[in-house]
Amino acid sequence: MAKKTIRDVQVEGKRVLVRVDFNVPMDVKSGAMTDDSRIRAALPTIRYLVDHSARVILCSHLGRPKGKVVEALRLAPVAEQLSKLMNLPVKYVRNCIGTEVETAANGLENGGILLLENLRFHAEEEANDPSFAKSLARLADVYVDDAFGTAHRAHASTTGIASYLPAVAGLLMEKELEVLGRILSSPEHPFAALLGGAKVSDKIGLIRNVLGKIDRLLIGGGMAATFLKVQGYGVGLSSVEVDKLDLARQLLELAKEKQVSLLVPRDVVACDAISEKAVAIVVPVAEIPPNKYIADIGPQTIDLFSRQMRN
Ligand code: 3PG
Repeated sequence: MAKKTIRDVQVEGKRVLVRVDFNVPMDVKSGAMTDDSRIRAALPTIRYLVDHSARVILCSHLGRPKGKVVEALRLAPVAEQLSKLMNLPVKYVRNCIGTEVETAANGLENGGILLLENLRFHAEEEANDPSFAKSLARLADVYVDDAFGTAHRAHASTTGIASYLPAVAGLLMEKELEVLGRILSSPEHPFAALLGGAKVSDKIGLIRNVLGKIDRLLIGGGMAATFLKVQGYGVGLSSVEVDKLDLARQLLELAKEKQVSLLVPRDVVACDAISEKAVAIVVPVAEIPPNKYIADIGPQTIDLFSRQMRN
């Protein structure tokens, strides 16, 4: 999948706005970052830009603040961690658009790094609002998309902005697309796909596309409830896409037709509420209590899915 990347554009002295995915896990109680893998994954792009004397402006979301400023979701700890990993100063501003941010971006020296505040503090980000996208675009000369983990979202900082600036892929995006392209065009068999997420409706296109290429499809996450329901199991209080039951049924039939073994959970972790304090029990899928939610797959299913992914 050939894409223009940062190697194909002149970046020296340019203000380069990089959409990264710094949606790192944070410990709710202490506010500490528990895993910096996503920051590390963006380092090759940032290093390349610094080494080529670009003025690097980074932007990301963190969590789902829904258009409000949430103190616990500020990106200050990310700036600190990035600075340690790069062994370079990283400037941080407490907003992502506006005069103060523009001054900070314009004041960056060649090779300098600036991290903007959480994009999702503005509802316009997720709404893909054109004037918000334009305000982001005003900060830079070139746009780089390196947020592979967010590439499925049509937000102002991922798609909207590309209408206003020359846009290229970052090195992480390039690597992920190359690996994904290779896996889908010439996979090794047996080829298993593990899918999760809340909604079947979000994944229909993907499932239809991969059913012709894979040997096994393992369904976990929230959408497993819809598949379990179609197979006649009670799913308690778990949310089911009632209008997508027919579609899930069709996908089960299509899998059969294509000789893909489609596996749903055999046991689940069930609880009264989706909360840290809830008491959880493990039950086979045939015994999910009507007053409980499915919170996760159970140990038998973990074992089954692990074996299917390994062999
Ligand atoms: C993720 O962690 O899956 C990405 O950062 C996207 O986050 P989102 O699901 O909140 O859009």
